[in-house]
Amino acid sequence: MAKTSIEKVHGRRVWDSRGRPTVEVEVTLAGGASGIAIAPAGASRGSGEAVDLRDGGKPYGGWDVAGAVRGVDLEIHEVLKGQDVRDQKRIDKFLIELDGTKNKGRLGGNATVATSMAVAHAAAAAEGVPLWRYLLGGDATPVMPLPEIQIFGGGAHASNRVDLQDFMVTAIGADSFRQSLDWTAEVYRHAGLIMADAGKLAGVADEGGFWPDFDSNEEAIETLTRAIEAAGLKPGVDVAISLDIAASEFGKDGKYTLARDGRTLTSDEMCAMLVDWVERYPICAIEDPLGEDDPEGMIRFTWAVRDRLQVVGDDFLVTNAERVQAAAKDGACNALLVKPNQAGTLTEAKAAADAATKAGFGRIVSARSGETEDVTIVHLAIGWQAPQLKVGSFARSERMAKWNEGLRIADRLSGDGPLPPRDAFPWR
Ligand code: PGA
Ligand code: ZN
Repeated sequence: MAKTSIEKVHGRRVWDSRGRPTVEVEVTLAGGASGIAIAPAGASRGSGEAVDLRDGGKPYGGWDVAGAVRGVDLEIHEVLKGQDVRDQKRIDKFLIELDGTKNKGRLGGNATVATSMAVAHAAAAAEGVPLWRYLLGGDATPVMPLPEIQIFGGGAHASNRVDLQDFMVTAIGADSFRQSLDWTAEVYRHAGLIMADAGKLAGVADEGGFWPDFDSNEEAIETLTRAIEAAGLKPGVDVAISLDIAASEFGKDGKYTLARDGRTLTSDEMCAMLVDWVERYPICAIEDPLGEDDPEGMIRFTWAVRDRLQVVGDDFLVTNAERVQAAAKDGACNALLVKPNQAGTLTEAKAAADAATKAGFGRIVSARSGETEDVTIVHLAIGWQAPQLKVGSFARSERMAKWNEGLRIADRLSGDGPLPPRDAFPWR
Protein backbone atom coordinates (compact mmCIF):
# COMPACT_ATOMS: atom_id res chain seq x y z
CA MET A 1 0.00 0.00 0.00
CA ALA A 2 1.16 3.49 -0.79
CA LYS A 3 2.21 5.63 2.17
CA THR A 4 -0.56 8.07 1.28
CA SER A 5 -3.38 5.54 1.30
CA ILE A 6 -5.97 5.83 4.05
CA GLU A 7 -5.75 3.33 6.86
CA LYS A 8 -8.39 4.78 9.11
CA VAL A 9 -11.04 7.50 9.19
CA HIS A 10 -12.16 8.14 12.74
CA GLY A 11 -14.82 10.56 13.98
CA ARG A 12 -15.16 11.96 17.47
CA ARG A 13 -17.42 14.46 19.17
CA VAL A 14 -15.73 17.67 20.31
CA TRP A 15 -17.21 21.06 21.32
CA ASP A 16 -17.47 24.38 19.52
CA SER A 17 -17.27 28.01 20.63
CA ARG A 18 -20.98 28.05 21.56
CA GLY A 19 -20.50 24.97 23.76
CA ARG A 20 -22.31 22.78 21.24
CA PRO A 21 -21.17 19.37 20.01
CA THR A 22 -19.42 19.20 16.67
CA VAL A 23 -17.60 16.63 14.53
CA GLU A 24 -13.85 16.12 14.51
CA VAL A 25 -12.36 13.70 11.99
CA GLU A 26 -8.89 12.16 12.13
CA VAL A 27 -7.53 10.50 9.00
CA THR A 28 -4.54 8.17 9.46
CA LEU A 29 -2.43 7.00 6.53
CA ALA A 30 -0.55 3.77 5.93
CA GLY A 31 2.74 5.69 6.12
CA GLY A 32 1.88 6.98 9.60
CA ALA A 33 1.01 10.58 8.71
CA SER A 34 -2.37 11.89 9.83
CA GLY A 35 -4.69 14.88 9.49
CA ILE A 36 -7.34 16.33 11.79
CA ALA A 37 -10.16 18.78 11.08
CA ILE A 38 -13.24 20.02 12.93
CA ALA A 39 -16.53 21.07 11.34
CA PRO A 40 -17.71 24.62 12.13
CA ALA A 41 -21.40 25.52 12.44
CA GLY A 42 -23.48 28.47 11.28
CA ALA A 43 -26.40 30.14 13.07
CA SER A 44 -27.80 32.22 10.22
CA ARG A 45 -27.86 29.56 7.57
CA GLY A 46 -28.94 29.74 3.95
CA SER A 47 -31.66 27.25 3.07
CA GLY A 48 -29.48 25.89 0.25
CA GLU A 49 -26.59 24.87 2.52
CA ALA A 50 -25.35 21.37 3.19
CA VAL A 51 -27.14 20.43 6.42
CA ASP A 52 -25.43 19.62 9.69
CA LEU A 53 -26.64 16.24 10.91
CA ARG A 54 -27.88 16.65 14.49
CA ASP A 55 -29.40 13.98 16.72
CA GLY A 56 -32.35 16.04 17.96
CA GLY A 57 -34.02 15.01 21.20
CA LYS A 58 -33.28 16.32 24.67
CA PRO A 59 -29.52 16.12 25.22
CA TYR A 60 -27.59 19.31 24.43
CA GLY A 61 -30.69 20.98 23.05
CA GLY A 62 -30.87 18.49 20.20
CA TRP A 63 -27.46 19.60 18.86
CA ASP A 64 -25.63 16.33 19.48
CA VAL A 65 -23.76 14.72 16.58
CA ALA A 66 -23.55 11.05 17.60
CA GLY A 67 -25.21 10.04 14.30
CA ALA A 68 -22.75 12.04 12.21
CA VAL A 69 -19.78 10.62 14.14
CA ARG A 70 -21.11 7.07 13.70
CA GLY A 71 -21.40 7.68 9.95
CA VAL A 72 -17.72 8.67 9.84
CA ASP A 73 -16.57 5.61 11.79
CA LEU A 74 -18.64 3.12 9.87
CA GLU A 75 -19.71 4.12 6.37
CA ILE A 76 -17.14 6.79 5.53
CA HIS A 77 -14.24 4.78 6.95
CA GLU A 78 -15.35 1.73 4.96
CA VAL A 79 -15.58 3.60 1.65
CA LEU A 80 -12.37 5.66 1.99
CA LYS A 81 -10.15 2.90 3.39
CA GLY A 82 -7.26 2.30 0.97
CA GLN A 83 -7.92 5.48 -1.06
CA ASP A 84 -5.05 7.83 -1.81
CA VAL A 85 -5.43 11.15 0.03
CA ARG A 86 -3.64 13.00 -2.74
CA ASP A 87 -6.71 12.50 -4.93
CA GLN A 88 -9.01 14.94 -3.10
CA LYS A 89 -11.49 15.09 -5.98
CA ARG A 90 -11.98 11.33 -6.05
CA ILE A 91 -12.38 11.15 -2.28
CA ASP A 92 -14.91 13.98 -2.25
CA LYS A 93 -16.79 12.28 -5.08
CA PHE A 94 -17.00 9.14 -2.95
CA LEU A 95 -18.37 11.21 -0.06
CA ILE A 96 -20.97 12.87 -2.29
CA GLU A 97 -22.10 9.55 -3.76
CA LEU A 98 -22.11 7.77 -0.43
CA ASP A 99 -24.35 10.45 1.04
CA GLY A 100 -26.58 10.33 -2.00
CA THR A 101 -28.71 13.40 -1.18
CA LYS A 102 -28.66 16.91 -2.63
CA ASN A 103 -27.88 18.58 0.70
CA LYS A 104 -25.65 16.03 2.48
CA GLY A 105 -28.68 15.31 4.62
CA ARG A 106 -27.96 11.63 5.18
CA LEU A 107 -24.34 11.63 6.42
CA GLY A 108 -24.37 15.33 7.33
CA GLY A 109 -22.34 18.17 5.84
CA ASN A 110 -20.59 18.36 9.22
CA ALA A 111 -19.32 14.77 8.78
CA THR A 112 -18.36 15.20 5.12
CA VAL A 113 -16.62 18.58 5.44
CA ALA A 114 -14.58 17.48 8.47
CA THR A 115 -13.56 14.32 6.56
CA SER A 116 -12.75 16.25 3.40
CA MET A 117 -10.58 18.75 5.30
CA ALA A 118 -8.87 16.04 7.38
CA VAL A 119 -7.97 14.23 4.14
CA ALA A 120 -6.29 17.40 2.83
CA HIS A 121 -4.40 17.82 6.11
CA ALA A 122 -3.22 14.21 5.98
CA ALA A 123 -2.00 14.65 2.40
CA ALA A 124 -0.05 17.78 3.35
CA ALA A 125 1.39 16.03 6.42
CA ALA A 126 2.52 13.09 4.30
CA GLU A 127 4.42 15.53 2.09
CA GLY A 128 5.80 17.35 5.11
CA VAL A 129 4.49 20.76 4.03
CA PRO A 130 1.88 23.14 5.49
CA LEU A 131 -1.60 22.68 4.04
CA TRP A 132 -1.55 26.07 2.30
CA ARG A 133 1.65 25.13 0.47
CA TYR A 134 0.29 21.68 -0.44
CA LEU A 135 -2.76 23.36 -2.00
CA LEU A 136 -0.82 26.13 -3.72
CA GLY A 137 2.12 24.08 -4.94
CA GLY A 138 5.38 25.57 -6.24
CA ASP A 139 7.63 27.62 -4.04
CA ALA A 140 6.56 31.20 -4.77
CA THR A 141 5.70 33.52 -1.87
CA PRO A 142 1.91 33.74 -1.68
CA VAL A 143 -0.09 36.89 -1.05
CA MET A 144 -2.08 36.92 2.17
CA PRO A 145 -5.83 37.50 2.25
CA LEU A 146 -7.05 40.93 3.34
CA PRO A 147 -8.90 40.42 6.66
CA GLU A 148 -12.55 41.41 7.17
CA ILE A 149 -13.15 41.63 10.91
CA GLN A 150 -16.31 42.12 12.96
CA ILE A 151 -16.42 44.88 15.58
CA PHE A 152 -20.09 44.66 16.61
CA GLY A 153 -22.05 41.42 16.39
CA GLY A 154 -25.83 41.56 15.94
CA GLY A 155 -28.70 39.56 14.49
CA ALA A 156 -28.81 35.85 15.24
CA HIS A 157 -25.41 36.08 16.96
CA ALA A 158 -26.56 38.55 19.59
CA SER A 159 -30.16 37.72 20.55
CA ASN A 160 -31.25 40.14 17.80
CA ARG A 161 -30.30 43.17 19.84
CA VAL A 162 -29.81 44.92 16.53
CA ASP A 163 -31.18 43.45 13.32
CA LEU A 164 -28.08 43.58 11.14
CA GLN A 165 -25.65 40.75 11.84
CA ASP A 166 -22.08 41.96 11.30
CA PHE A 167 -20.61 45.44 11.55
CA MET A 168 -17.11 44.84 10.25
CA VAL A 169 -13.96 46.65 9.19
CA THR A 170 -11.44 46.03 6.43
CA ALA A 171 -8.09 47.82 6.56
CA ILE A 172 -8.23 48.77 2.89
CA GLY A 173 -5.20 51.08 3.16
CA ALA A 174 -2.93 48.58 4.91
CA ASP A 175 0.30 47.51 3.25
CA SER A 176 0.46 44.06 4.81
CA PHE A 177 -1.54 41.37 6.59
CA ARG A 178 0.22 42.30 9.79
CA GLN A 179 -0.59 45.99 9.48
CA SER A 180 -4.23 45.24 8.74
CA LEU A 181 -4.44 43.35 12.06
CA ASP A 182 -2.53 46.09 13.92
CA TRP A 183 -5.04 48.67 12.73
CA THR A 184 -8.04 46.45 13.41
CA ALA A 185 -6.81 45.82 16.96
CA GLU A 186 -6.87 49.58 17.57
CA VAL A 187 -10.32 49.99 16.04
CA TYR A 188 -11.65 47.13 18.18
CA ARG A 189 -10.11 48.60 21.33
CA HIS A 190 -11.47 52.07 20.64
CA ALA A 191 -14.93 50.72 19.84
CA GLY A 192 -14.89 49.11 23.30
CA LEU A 193 -13.77 52.36 24.93
CA ILE A 194 -16.52 54.34 23.19
CA MET A 195 -19.12 51.84 24.33
CA ALA A 196 -17.77 51.83 27.89
CA ASP A 197 -17.89 55.64 27.97
CA ALA A 198 -21.50 55.57 26.82
CA GLY A 199 -22.35 52.94 29.46
CA LYS A 200 -23.20 50.50 26.67
CA LEU A 201 -20.47 47.91 27.06
CA ALA A 202 -22.35 44.68 27.70
CA GLY A 203 -20.03 41.84 26.69
CA VAL A 204 -19.51 40.22 23.33
CA ALA A 205 -21.66 38.38 20.81
CA ASP A 206 -21.05 34.90 19.33
CA GLU A 207 -18.07 35.87 17.17
CA GLY A 208 -16.34 38.06 19.76
CA GLY A 209 -17.61 41.41 18.44
CA PHE A 210 -19.06 43.77 21.07
CA TRP A 211 -22.69 43.13 21.92
CA PRO A 212 -24.38 46.10 20.32
CA ASP A 213 -26.52 47.90 22.89
CA PHE A 214 -27.60 50.51 20.35
CA ASP A 215 -30.87 52.35 19.85
CA SER A 216 -30.83 51.83 16.09
CA ASN A 217 -28.96 49.88 13.43
CA GLU A 218 -27.53 53.10 12.06
CA GLU A 219 -26.11 54.06 15.47
CA ALA A 220 -23.83 51.02 15.19
CA ILE A 221 -22.50 52.21 11.82
CA GLU A 222 -22.00 55.70 13.13
CA THR A 223 -20.22 54.43 16.26
CA LEU A 224 -17.98 52.25 14.12
CA THR A 225 -16.99 55.27 12.02
CA ARG A 226 -16.10 57.13 15.22
CA ALA A 227 -14.06 54.15 16.48
CA ILE A 228 -11.97 54.22 13.29
CA GLU A 229 -11.30 57.93 13.81
CA ALA A 230 -10.55 57.45 17.52
CA ALA A 231 -7.94 54.87 16.51
CA GLY A 232 -6.19 57.61 14.54
CA LEU A 233 -7.16 56.13 11.18
CA LYS A 234 -8.99 57.63 8.21
CA PRO A 235 -12.42 56.11 7.59
CA GLY A 236 -12.75 55.02 3.97
CA VAL A 237 -9.03 55.51 3.29
CA ASP A 238 -7.19 53.43 5.89
CA VAL A 239 -10.11 51.42 7.18
CA ALA A 240 -13.55 50.94 5.64
CA ILE A 241 -16.74 49.46 7.00
CA SER A 242 -18.52 46.38 5.74
CA LEU A 243 -21.91 45.07 6.76
CA ASP A 244 -23.42 41.61 6.73
CA ILE A 245 -27.12 42.41 6.68
CA ALA A 246 -28.01 38.67 6.74
CA ALA A 247 -31.38 39.90 5.47
CA SER A 248 -32.90 36.41 5.18
CA GLU A 249 -33.05 36.40 8.98
CA PHE A 250 -35.60 39.23 9.16
CA GLY A 251 -36.99 39.37 5.62
CA LYS A 252 -40.05 37.33 4.69
CA ASP A 253 -42.12 37.58 1.51
CA GLY A 254 -40.42 40.75 0.34
CA LYS A 255 -40.98 42.54 3.68
CA TYR A 256 -38.07 43.40 5.94
CA THR A 257 -38.81 44.03 9.60
CA LEU A 258 -36.13 46.03 11.39
CA ALA A 259 -37.32 45.48 14.95
CA ARG A 260 -34.70 47.76 16.51
CA ASP A 261 -35.73 50.62 14.20
CA GLY A 262 -39.45 49.88 14.63
CA ARG A 263 -40.20 49.71 10.92
CA THR A 264 -41.00 47.28 8.14
CA LEU A 265 -39.57 48.00 4.69
CA THR A 266 -40.36 46.75 1.21
CA SER A 267 -37.50 45.39 -0.88
CA ASP A 268 -37.27 48.77 -2.68
CA GLU A 269 -37.15 50.66 0.61
CA MET A 270 -34.47 48.30 1.95
CA CYS A 271 -32.40 48.98 -1.19
CA ALA A 272 -32.87 52.72 -0.82
CA MET A 273 -31.87 52.65 2.87
CA LEU A 274 -28.67 50.71 2.09
CA VAL A 275 -27.74 52.96 -0.85
CA ASP A 276 -28.26 55.96 1.44
CA TRP A 277 -25.90 54.42 4.02
CA VAL A 278 -23.32 53.70 1.32
CA GLU A 279 -23.50 57.38 0.37
CA ARG A 280 -23.14 58.67 3.92
CA TYR A 281 -20.71 56.21 5.54
CA PRO A 282 -17.33 54.77 4.47
CA ILE A 283 -18.78 51.40 3.45
CA CYS A 284 -16.83 49.12 1.10
CA ALA A 285 -18.93 45.93 1.15
CA ILE A 286 -22.44 44.70 1.95
CA GLU A 287 -23.23 41.01 2.35
CA ASP A 288 -26.69 39.50 1.81
CA PRO A 289 -28.33 42.95 1.52
CA LEU A 290 -31.66 41.35 0.59
CA GLY A 291 -33.14 37.97 1.43
CA GLU A 292 -32.20 34.74 -0.31
CA ASP A 293 -35.76 34.58 -1.68
CA ASP A 294 -35.53 38.09 -3.16
CA PRO A 295 -33.30 37.73 -6.24
CA GLU A 296 -34.90 40.76 -7.92
CA GLY A 297 -33.88 42.87 -4.93
CA MET A 298 -30.35 41.47 -5.06
CA ILE A 299 -30.10 42.31 -8.77
CA ARG A 300 -31.52 45.79 -8.30
CA PHE A 301 -29.18 46.56 -5.42
CA THR A 302 -26.11 45.16 -7.19
CA TRP A 303 -26.76 47.23 -10.31
CA ALA A 304 -27.14 50.36 -8.19
CA VAL A 305 -23.77 50.02 -6.45
CA ARG A 306 -21.65 47.53 -8.36
CA ASP A 307 -18.86 49.94 -9.36
CA ARG A 308 -18.10 51.14 -5.85
CA LEU A 309 -19.12 48.35 -3.51
CA GLN A 310 -18.59 44.66 -2.97
CA VAL A 311 -21.99 42.97 -2.92
CA VAL A 312 -21.33 39.66 -1.24
CA GLY A 313 -23.50 36.57 -1.58
CA ASP A 314 -23.48 34.28 1.48
CA ASP A 315 -26.93 32.78 2.14
CA PHE A 316 -27.74 33.84 -1.42
CA LEU A 317 -24.96 31.79 -3.06
CA VAL A 318 -24.26 29.13 -0.37
CA THR A 319 -20.80 28.33 -1.82
CA ASN A 320 -22.42 26.71 -4.84
CA ALA A 321 -20.82 26.95 -8.30
CA GLU A 322 -24.15 26.85 -10.17
CA ARG A 323 -25.62 29.62 -8.06
CA VAL A 324 -22.51 31.72 -8.65
CA GLN A 325 -22.87 31.23 -12.41
CA ALA A 326 -26.56 32.16 -12.29
CA ALA A 327 -25.84 35.25 -10.19
CA ALA A 328 -23.11 36.34 -12.58
CA LYS A 329 -25.51 36.00 -15.49
CA ASP A 330 -28.22 38.04 -13.76
CA GLY A 331 -25.87 40.62 -12.28
CA ALA A 332 -26.72 39.71 -8.69
CA CYS A 333 -23.68 40.09 -6.34
CA ASN A 334 -20.11 40.68 -7.37
CA ALA A 335 -18.41 38.66 -4.63
CA LEU A 336 -18.73 35.20 -3.12
CA LEU A 337 -18.41 34.21 0.52
CA VAL A 338 -16.66 30.82 0.49
CA LYS A 339 -17.73 28.65 3.42
CA PRO A 340 -16.55 25.06 2.92
CA ASN A 341 -19.23 23.62 5.19
CA GLN A 342 -22.00 25.20 3.10
CA ALA A 343 -20.80 22.98 0.25
CA GLY A 344 -19.86 19.96 2.35
CA THR A 345 -16.57 19.06 0.61
CA LEU A 346 -13.42 20.97 -0.33
CA THR A 347 -13.84 20.05 -3.99
CA GLU A 348 -17.29 21.64 -4.15
CA ALA A 349 -16.17 24.72 -2.22
CA LYS A 350 -13.20 25.13 -4.57
CA ALA A 351 -15.50 24.75 -7.59
CA ALA A 352 -17.64 27.62 -6.27
CA ALA A 353 -14.51 29.73 -5.69
CA ASP A 354 -13.30 28.96 -9.21
CA ALA A 355 -16.70 29.89 -10.66
CA ALA A 356 -16.41 33.19 -8.78
CA THR A 357 -12.94 33.84 -10.21
CA LYS A 358 -14.25 33.12 -13.69
CA ALA A 359 -17.15 35.51 -13.21
CA GLY A 360 -14.80 38.26 -12.03
CA PHE A 361 -16.34 38.07 -8.54
CA GLY A 362 -14.42 38.79 -5.36
CA ARG A 363 -13.76 35.78 -3.10
CA ILE A 364 -13.86 35.89 0.68
CA VAL A 365 -13.07 32.66 2.48
CA SER A 366 -15.13 32.66 5.67
CA ALA A 367 -15.40 31.02 9.08
CA ARG A 368 -18.78 30.36 10.73
CA SER A 369 -20.25 31.79 13.91
CA GLY A 370 -19.69 28.44 15.65
CA GLU A 371 -15.94 27.80 15.47
CA THR A 372 -13.10 25.94 17.16
CA GLU A 373 -9.31 25.98 17.27
CA ASP A 374 -9.35 24.52 13.73
CA VAL A 375 -7.46 26.87 11.38
CA THR A 376 -8.08 25.08 8.09
CA ILE A 377 -9.79 28.09 6.48
CA VAL A 378 -6.65 30.20 6.79
CA HIS A 379 -4.76 27.58 4.79
CA LEU A 380 -7.56 27.38 2.25
CA ALA A 381 -7.58 31.15 1.78
CA ILE A 382 -3.82 31.21 1.16
CA GLY A 383 -3.65 27.92 -0.74
CA TRP A 384 -6.47 29.01 -3.05
CA GLN A 385 -5.12 32.57 -3.16
CA ALA A 386 -8.46 34.07 -2.16
CA PRO A 387 -8.08 37.85 -1.83
CA GLN A 388 -10.03 38.13 1.45
CA LEU A 389 -10.66 36.28 4.73
CA LYS A 390 -13.56 36.72 7.18
CA VAL A 391 -13.31 35.14 10.63
CA GLY A 392 -15.58 37.04 13.03
CA SER A 393 -14.05 39.46 15.48
CA PHE A 394 -10.70 40.25 17.07
CA ALA A 395 -11.26 38.48 20.40
CA ARG A 396 -11.61 34.94 21.73
CA SER A 397 -9.25 32.15 20.77
CA GLU A 398 -11.41 30.39 18.18
CA ARG A 399 -11.07 33.65 16.19
CA MET A 400 -7.53 34.67 17.20
CA ALA A 401 -6.24 31.18 16.35
CA LYS A 402 -6.98 32.04 12.71
CA TRP A 403 -5.43 35.52 12.73
CA ASN A 404 -2.40 34.20 14.61
CA GLU A 405 -2.00 31.34 12.13
CA GLY A 406 -1.93 33.92 9.33
CA LEU A 407 0.75 35.91 11.17
CA ARG A 408 2.75 32.73 11.78
CA ILE A 409 2.64 31.79 8.10
CA ALA A 410 3.66 35.31 7.03
CA ASP A 411 6.46 35.41 9.59
CA ARG A 412 7.88 32.06 8.51
CA LEU A 413 8.00 33.44 4.99
CA SER A 414 10.00 36.21 6.69
CA GLY A 415 7.63 39.06 6.06
CA ASP A 416 4.57 40.96 7.21
CA GLY A 417 2.40 39.20 4.65
CA PRO A 418 2.01 40.95 1.30
CA LEU A 419 -1.62 41.65 0.34
CA PRO A 420 -3.26 41.30 -3.08
CA PRO A 421 -2.70 44.24 -5.43
CA ARG A 422 -5.00 47.19 -4.84
CA ASP A 423 -6.74 46.81 -8.17
CA ALA A 424 -8.05 43.41 -6.99
CA PHE A 425 -10.68 45.41 -5.09
CA PRO A 426 -13.03 48.05 -6.44
CA TRP A 427 -12.35 50.31 -3.46
CA ARG A 428 -8.69 49.84 -2.66
P1 PGA B 1 -23.18 32.09 10.41
O1 PGA B 1 -22.84 33.61 10.19
O2 PGA B 1 -21.92 31.33 10.49
O3 PGA B 1 -23.96 32.09 11.70
O4 PGA B 1 -24.03 31.68 9.25
C1 PGA B 1 -21.75 34.05 9.44
C2 PGA B 1 -22.19 34.86 8.24
O5 PGA B 1 -23.40 35.04 8.01
O6 PGA B 1 -21.35 35.31 7.47
ZN1 ZN C 1 -23.28 36.18 6.11
